[in-house]
Parts: sequence; structure tokens; C-alpha cells
Amino acid sequence: MNNYVEQFNESLNNTKLIPIVETQLEESMRYSLSAGGKRIRPVLLLMTLSMLKTDINKGMETAKALEMIHTYSLIHDDLPAMDDDDYRRGKKTNHKLFGEATAILAGDALLTKAFELISKDKELASEEKVKLIRLLSEAAGHQGMVGGQILDMDSENKDISLDTLRKIHRYKTGALIRFSVVAACTIAKVNSKTFLLLDSFSQELGLIFQIKDDLLDIEGDFDKIGKAVGSDETNNKSTYISILGTTNTKIALEQHVNQALYLLEQLGKDYNTEELKSLTKLFANREK
Ligand code: IPE
Ligand code: IPE
Ligand code: MG
Ligand code: MG
Ligand code: MG
Repeated sequence: MNNYVEQFNESLNNTKLIPIVETQLEESMRYSLSAGGKRIRPVLLLMTLSMLKTDINKGMETAKALEMIHTYSLIHDDLPAMDDDDYRRGKKTNHKLFGEATAILAGDALLTKAFELISKDKELASEEKVKLIRLLSEAAGHQGMVGGQILDMDSENKDISLDTLRKIHRYKTGALIRFSVVAACTIAKVNSKTFLLLDSFSQELGLIFQIKDDLLDIEGDFDKIGKAVGSDETNNKSTYISILGTTNTKIALEQHVNQALYLLEQLGKDYNTEELKSLTKLFANREK
């Protein structure tokens, strides 16, 4: 994973954010972009491309765009009107440091920058870029991450079913994780059998990631997760644990891991799936 993270960070650090006027906007965008995120979405995109025997540089701008949208989603997720959190990645949240107005605008600017980056990508043909922009706007918007976030907010202080919770996870977290894999499939132009397997795999990964996030919100260590423990309970969120209990949540997590690994097996011997298998296990066993 380190190798992908290094290449990604180098490329991201070289992406200029040039101000038109002296304000804190760019500093605030850069603060959250460089605050020490795990980079799991870009790594997943680049790793999938590599498994599909495609040059990872073809996915680098898309990976940066994706991380910008993820970062914006976290800046807004932490705002007082949403989860009202003071720490993220062991540092003060964006609005705590720069104020709410700048944090909202930094989020807006990161979201917009994402599409600018893909549209300017020199590695891809125009048709590929339009397709990626369409997929990313769907994954990020009201039929994707934002749709999941409103469902999450609307479900505070309510008893919801496991089905509704799965839906929240599928959209608020799953949509961008799914995009990582689907974008790689699009760039590598895979056949439909490979696409269907990897698409299903990515949906398992999204659930694995958010189930583990819910577990870490209870069992995690602030020094490792870098964000408040118990935030979900404070906000009266429905989570896997509040609905199923810890033991059954861990069983569900294991089942999704097995299903994800099974789907990778189905790709057959043409592909070396070792890296993606390790990443799947990391999603489930991570401490941060
Ligand atoms: C946190 O995502 C928000 C969720 C979707 C669970 P990450 O755990 O990927 O956050 P960073 O980027 O590593 O801080
Ligand atoms: C956030 O889910 C998912 C996003 C789209 C940002 P959470 O609210 O559980 O994420 P954390 O725990 O604050 O990172
Ligand atoms: Mg939230
Ligand atoms: Mg939150
Ligand atoms: Mg959480």
C-alpha cells in the first residue's frame, strides 16, 4: 500500500492551488487534504488499475479528484450542523481552525476542483473523461454520497431497520468506494464479466469499511483513529452496533469479507488479486 500512497501523495502535493486573492481558502483546502488521511480510495483505484495491468498514471488525476471529494465530504460532515466534531485525523477539524464559512467554502472548492482536474487530464481521451465525470458526479451527489449523508442525518434519534441502515452505508460511504473500482474498470476497459465481479466486490468493500468505522467509533482509540470515540452515540446515530449489537456486527463484517474475497477468486487466474485481498482484510482489521 505504501508505494501507492507515496506516488499519490507526491502527485497531490504537486497539484497547485493558486489563490486569486490573499485569503485562507487555499490554506484551508490544503490543510484538510494533507492532514494525514489514509488514502484508501485512491489506493483502491490505483491498485485495481494495476491488477488490470493498466498504467496507474492513467488513474492518477481521477484518484486525486476522488480524494478531494472525500476530503470535502469530511469537512462538511464535521460541521456543527452535521456531526459537530472537533478532531479529525488527530488534528483540529477544518471549521475549528478556519471558521465555518471558510470550511464550507473549502469544501465547495474541493468538490469543484475535482471535476476541473479530470477535465484537464492529459492521460485520458475526452470520451473517457466525460464517462468518469458522469460516474463521479453520480457517486458524489444526491444519488450517492450526499444522498447517504441526508439519510444519515434524517435517521438521528430514530429507530431504523437494518435495511435502511445498509442503504445509508451503501450511499454515504459505499458510493465513493465503489467509484474507486468502477473508475479503474472504466479506464482499463474491462469486459462485462470482470466488471460485474469487481463492481460487486466494491460494494462489499464499502459495507466492510463503514461497518468497521462504526465499530471503531465504539472500540477505537482516539490516538489511532484521530477522531472522537463515541461520536455516533452522542449524536444518537443508528449504526450496525446499535441495531445488531457488537457480536453480530463482527459476524456480519466477517461475512462481507468472505464474500469480497470470494468475488476476487472468481476473477480467475488471469489476474493477480493478492494486493486487493490484503486491502480487503485491512479494511476489516484496521485500527484507524
Ligand atoms: C472516514 O473515511 C469517513 C467514512 C466514510 C467512514 P476515512 O476513514 O477514509 O478517512 P481518512 O481520509 O482516512 O481520514
Ligand atoms: C461519514 O460517515 C461519511 C461521509 C460521507 C463523510 P461518518 O460520519 O461515520 O464518518 P466519521 O466517523 O465522521 O469519519
Ligand atoms: Mg456523519
Ligand atoms: Mg462524522
Ligand atoms: Mg463514523
